[in-house]
Amino acid sequence: SAPRHIRVLQDTYPTDDYTNITPTISSKLSRRLHAQEGHPITTLRSLIESHFPDFAHLSSLSPIVTPHQNFDSLSFPADHPGRAKTDSYYINKNAMLRTHTSAHEVEVFAKGTERWLLTADVYRRDEIDASHYPVFHQMEGAKIFGTDASSIDQIEQESQRLERQLALSNIDIEDVRHISETNPAQTSHDVRSSEVIAKNLKFCLNSLMYKLFAGIAGAAKSDPLRVRWIEAYFPFTGPSYEVEVFFRGKWLEILGCGVVLQSTLDRAGVPNKMGWAFGLGLERIAMILYSIPDIRLFWSEDPRFLSQFTHGKFSTFKPYSKYPASYRDVSFWKPSSDMHDNDLYDVVRDVAGDLVEDVAIIDRFTHPKTQRHSLTVRVVYRSFDRSLVNEEVNLLQSRVVSCLQKLGVEIR
Ligand code: PHE
Repeated sequence: SAPRHIRVLQDTYPTDDYTNITPTISSKLSRRLHAQEGHPITTLRSLIESHFPDFAHLSSLSPIVTPHQNFDSLSFPADHPGRAKTDSYYINKNAMLRTHTSAHEVEVFAKGTERWLLTADVYRRDEIDASHYPVFHQMEGAKIFGTDASSIDQIEQESQRLERQLALSNIDIEDVRHISETNPAQTSHDVRSSEVIAKNLKFCLNSLMYKLFAGIAGAAKSDPLRVRWIEAYFPFTGPSYEVEVFFRGKWLEILGCGVVLQSTLDRAGVPNKMGWAFGLGLERIAMILYSIPDIRLFWSEDPRFLSQFTHGKFSTFKPYSKYPASYRDVSFWKPSSDMHDNDLYDVVRDVAGDLVEDVAIIDRFTHPKTQRHSLTVRVVYRSFDRSLVNEEVNLLQSRVVSCLQKLGVEIR
């Protein structure tokens, strides 16, 4: 049966029916890749910080937050799917691992900080493949302003300065209206002030995209960097946008952003300010800038990985020889009490850690008479630093199978 208490970082917590944090996940909490000198995530963080020199640069907030901080303080509705145990890691019903850096908005604004960047590890239950890992890093940036006429004027002047700079850059921006019927200003906001703030946000981020990607995204140096703005929805901003960058023939989603919900600022005790916020994922950008092919590599302690990087420098990662992969399939009937795909992924991660490269559901069907659901799952095992022998892979797979049986599945 489950233990009554668990230790996470320095503290002991009672468990309850929300508890779903696993030892594999717990072990990541103290790694702090974003504070490791020379690590690609840290170099990228420094580059972004250098784009916002007059902002407070924060990076030491605890990953353990309350669901109130992560969701309620940002006006997430009570039934938002992100709150589900299947999507987030809970220590118990009152303590969870932050799923995004926005979890800290209220506390940072409440300290009186008006311009800040916050870098942190964030945790989400997810699928397993080369670009999905249950821990990744985000940077949140935010700026709030006074709303009197002269403050609004100052924002406009700063925006014009940024606009003139961008006009000299080889960048092609596909814009979207600041405010529209489908992406409205908040009802409590003066529409023009909201527009001024949205425009300032766009210029700041377009010039950040140029700093990060110029000369990388295009096929040739002379190709412009293509950036696209699209309408988005977040519970804690309005209007809201997503920014995408064109890279190797595809639009890649880089960040989410918008005008901060006034209720966030009210909760933080700064009701007469207005502002913008954005949140971006560092791994996806670092994989492009360094040509890192697999997200697990960021967690590698292998000198063949770490020794390739120098703090403050971007270089192309040279893959060292890959050891062979082995795969094992398993077919089973799902338990009648519903089992989420993420439960399966956590079982595999917990057994195999970073030895699992991919988990794919290769077949699903429902028995026409019994209505039972069957899955066939292929697990791909591969180590970054050695060849796995057959016996070891068999052992891993048999542990996966017996953990699945504990979840109530029936092996076919
Ligand atoms: N927190 C959002 C996410 O993780 C990103 C975001 C941050 C959006 C700030 C708007 C404002 O997807």
